[in-house]
Amino acid sequence: MGIETKGSEIKEDRMKKILITGGAGFIGSHVVRLFVNKYPEYQIFNLDKLTYAGNLRNIEDIESNQNYSFLKADISDRGKVEELFEIHKFDFVIHLAAESHVDRSIKNPLEFLNTNIVGTVNLLDACRNSWNHENGKHLFYHVSTDEVFGSLSDQGFFIESTPYDPQSPYSASKAGSDHFVRAYGNTYGLPFVISNCSNNYGPNQFPEKLIPLFINNIKNNRPLPVYGKGDNVRDWLYVVDHARAIDMIFHGSAHGKTYNIGGFNEWKNLDLIKVLCDLMDEKLGRSKGESQNLIEFVTDRSGHDFRYAIDASMIKKELGWEPSLQFEEGLSKTIDWYLSNDEWLKEVTSGEYLNYYKNHYGAEA
Ligand code: NAD
Ligand code: TYD
Repeated sequence: MGIETKGSEIKEDRMKKILITGGAGFIGSHVVRLFVNKYPEYQIFNLDKLTYAGNLRNIEDIESNQNYSFLKADISDRGKVEELFEIHKFDFVIHLAAESHVDRSIKNPLEFLNTNIVGTVNLLDACRNSWNHENGKHLFYHVSTDEVFGSLSDQGFFIESTPYDPQSPYSASKAGSDHFVRAYGNTYGLPFVISNCSNNYGPNQFPEKLIPLFINNIKNNRPLPVYGKGDNVRDWLYVVDHARAIDMIFHGSAHGKTYNIGGFNEWKNLDLIKVLCDLMDEKLGRSKGESQNLIEFVTDRSGHDFRYAIDASMIKKELGWEPSLQFEEGLSKTIDWYLSNDEWLKEVTSGEYLNYYKNHYGAEA
C-alpha cells in the first residue's frame, strides 16, 4: 500500500499539465513538438488564435499524440482565458503567443498592445487566480526577445541586466509584457522565468521575416528588398536550438530568473543575403551570382534598430546550453525545408499575404 502511494505520488508529480501559447506559430510549433515527443507523461495544451502566422500544418505530425490537445482561443479574450483555466487547470504556462513582426507593428501598433500586453496580463491573472503559489508546482515561462534592449552600435553585447530601451512598437509591447511578468512575480509572488532570444530562423517561419521571405523570392526570381544599405546586424539562432534552450530553462532554472539566448552568430544583413543567394544558386542549379542579381536596395524601415547581439554566456555556464548547429548548416537545412515544402509555402503566401506584400513593398508577391 505504502509503495503504491509512493508510486502514484511520483507519477502525479511527473504528470505536468502545460499550457503552451502560440504553438501553431514558428517557434511555438518547435517547442510543442519537442515537449510532446520528449515528455509523453506531460499533458500539452496548445492554445492559439490561428492568426495569419498560426498554421496547424506546422504541427500535424504530433496532433494525434495522446498527450496533446489543441485549443483555439484569443489570449486577449479575458473571459475565454479564464474559462480555459477553469476547465483544464493548467499547472504551467510557456507563453509564446504574440504578434511578432516589426514591420506590421509599425503599421498597426494597437494589435501588438492587445495581444502582447493585454493578452499576457490576461494569462498572468488567470494563473494568479488559479494557482496556490506556496506549493512550488507552478511556473509562468515568458518567451521574449532581445529587441527589448534596444539597438547597439558596432560595440558591446546585451547581457541579462542591460536596461530596457525598446525602439519599435513591437519591442515596446514585448518590453511591456516582460515588465508585467516581473511585476506579478514581485507583487503577487507568481513564479516566473523569462528568456530573451535573438533572431530565429529555420523551418515553418512565416515568409514575412527576412530569411524565409528571401528564400521564397529567390525561388520565384522576384526582387530581394534590402532595407537601407543592408548594413544592419542581427544574431541568428536555429529555431530548434531555441526550443532546446526553453526546455532546459523550463526544467533547470530557479524562479524569478532571466536568461539571454543567442547564436554567437552575428551577420550584417547584406553578407547574410549574399551567402543565402549563393546557397540557393547551388541548390537550384543556377550559375553562381545569378540570385545576387535580384538584390534591390529599398527605403529603410522607420526607426530601424542597427544591431542586436546577445551575450549568451550565462545560460551556457549555468545550464550547459549552447547552439548545436553552425550557421551554414542551419541555413542549408532551412532552404531544403522550404524547397521541399512547396505546398506549405504556396498556402501561406496566398490570401492575406498578397495584400500585405503589395501594401508593404508596393509590388506583387
Ligand atoms: P509567430 O508570429 O510565428 O507565431 C505567433 C503565434 O501566436 C501564431 O501561431 C499566432 O496565431 C499566435 N497568436 C497571435 N496572436 C494571438 C492571440 N491574440 N491569441 C492567441 N494566439 C495568438 O511568432 P514566432 O516568431 O514564433 O515568435 C514566438 C514568440 O517568440 C513571440 O513571443 C516572439 O516575441 C518571441 N521571439 C521571436 C523571435 C524570432 O526571431 N521569431 C526571437 C525571439 C523571441
Ligand atoms: P526581420 O526578419 O523582420 O527581423 P527583426 O526586424 O525582428 O530583426 O528582419 C531582419 C533584418 O532584415 C532587419 O535588419 C530588417 C531586414 N529586412 C530587410 O532588409 N528586408 C526585408 O524585406 C525584411 C523583412 C527585413
